[in-house]
Amino acid sequence: MKKVCMFGLGFVGLPLALSFAMRGCQVTGVDIDEKLVADLNQGLTHHLEAYEGLGIKEILRKQMDQGRFQAVTDGLGAMQDCDNIIVTIGIPVEGHKHDMKPMLEVCRTVGAGLKAGDLVLIRSTVIPGTTRDVILPILEQESGLQAGIDFYLAYSSERIAEGRAFHEFEHMPAALAGINPASTLKAFELMSIVTRAHITQASCMEVVEASKVIENISRDVDIAMVNEFARFCKAMGIDIFEVVAVANTHQRVNLLNPGPGVGGYCLPNALFYLLPKADEIGVNLSLLTTARKVNEGMPRYVADLVLRNLQVAPSQARVAVLGMAMKDYSNDDRMSPALSVIEALQKSGCTVRAFDPAVPSYYDFKVNSLEEAVTDAHGLVVLTLQNGIDFMNLDFLMNLMSRESQPFIVDTKNFYDPAVVWDKGFRLERL
Ligand SMILES: NC(=O)c1ccc[n+]([C@@H]2O[C@H](COP(=O)([O-])OP(=O)(O)OC[C@H]3O[C@@H](n4cnc5c(N)ncnc54)[C@H](O)[C@@H]3O)[C@@H](O)[C@H]2O)c1
Repeated sequence: MKKVCMFGLGFVGLPLALSFAMRGCQVTGVDIDEKLVADLNQGLTHHLEAYEGLGIKEILRKQMDQGRFQAVTDGLGAMQDCDNIIVTIGIPVEGHKHDMKPMLEVCRTVGAGLKAGDLVLIRSTVIPGTTRDVILPILEQESGLQAGIDFYLAYSSERIAEGRAFHEFEHMPAALAGINPASTLKAFELMSIVTRAHITQASCMEVVEASKVIENISRDVDIAMVNEFARFCKAMGIDIFEVVAVANTHQRVNLLNPGPGVGGYCLPNALFYLLPKADEIGVNLSLLTTARKVNEGMPRYVADLVLRNLQVAPSQARVAVLGMAMKDYSNDDRMSPALSVIEALQKSGCTVRAFDPAVPSYYDFKVNSLEEAVTDAHGLVVLTLQNGIDFMNLDFLMNLMSRESQPFIVDTKNFYDPAVVWDKGFRLERL
């Protein structure tokens, strides 16, 4: 039975910790968030993951009952009796600048607790070169041990999508590399406990670190491209969703759908993990930077679609926002485009009431029911699809909305059939 110590119990760390526990490992999860740790030890989590018919809360409780998982705040204590250390904490990006403090802090703790023979496996998304150039020296300095000789060190990118974590830990092909072949092998053995898909063993850690960041940026760029096509099609008076469907009948074309922006922790941050290295080595990334700007501009574009449909002054307007998560059916609102759309509408003078039953965060514009959001609204904007929002109850919506002007819907998801919406008396604006 392997003993695993998981640093970081967020969207990645918690389901990954439970994935090891479900396969018989003895797992201690470490997080600095005391409330999170207390909640987990009571079997509480707000995550929306599931595996083989069981929700993550049931999985958590079962693994705790069977003594295979516990959460703690004391990282040093947790490492005393454990030789497999996995790091899943993030590198936050604020105002396009990355912040290494949480990573440096966790490395100091892990370094201080490191024993000869331990494996340290980094699974966070990082600036290429971080494991060798930043993490390794701290681990060696704090422990007095030497990487590749006294302890094993490896990097493996994490590729899961929230909501599909348990399935993707198991079935998504993975990639890893160690500081030396022995580290690669140790990490491979550990990963193989959970991952049944192919695990590529790359030539060096920098390849895996860079490929992770590039995977995320490639999706950001693909979305930016179709968002730009959307603006073109709109101005031309044709439907972007139909254009995408037609273009994708070409066997070598695979366009994504446009949307109100790109949110979450992973895609919007990715460029800001590549730029610091690009600056250091003198490489210009103008295409990637432009794509990011296109996606960052989408919430403003959506807000303008709402504003141009108003038949009252913005200062008199009430707008309902439906769906606040960073993507459909998620409860994660980190860097959600919805928050930027709301900010733009509010800055223009509109009163906004937003509803998303899955998002736990508090905002003063967030209300607790669909009814509260749409009552007396002049228009509504659909930003993400969500369980618990009855988008199709159009009679209900129409009855509650203001009749000061003809109610309208801005549909960024291509969710509504225009004929049905028009038939109920709404105006409809799509991306
Ligand atoms: N969320 C995703 O879908 C996803 C997918 C692939 C990769 N990633 C990457 O995985 C990493 C983690 O992402 P996440 O979404 O789980 O982040 P998260 O913010 O949900 O979780 C990180 C956790 O680390 C904890 N933490 C911070 N400093 C700590 C410390 N010193 N010691 C112990 N715990 C500490 C935080 O309290 C938090 O609970 C990031 O690098 C992210 O880019 C995320």
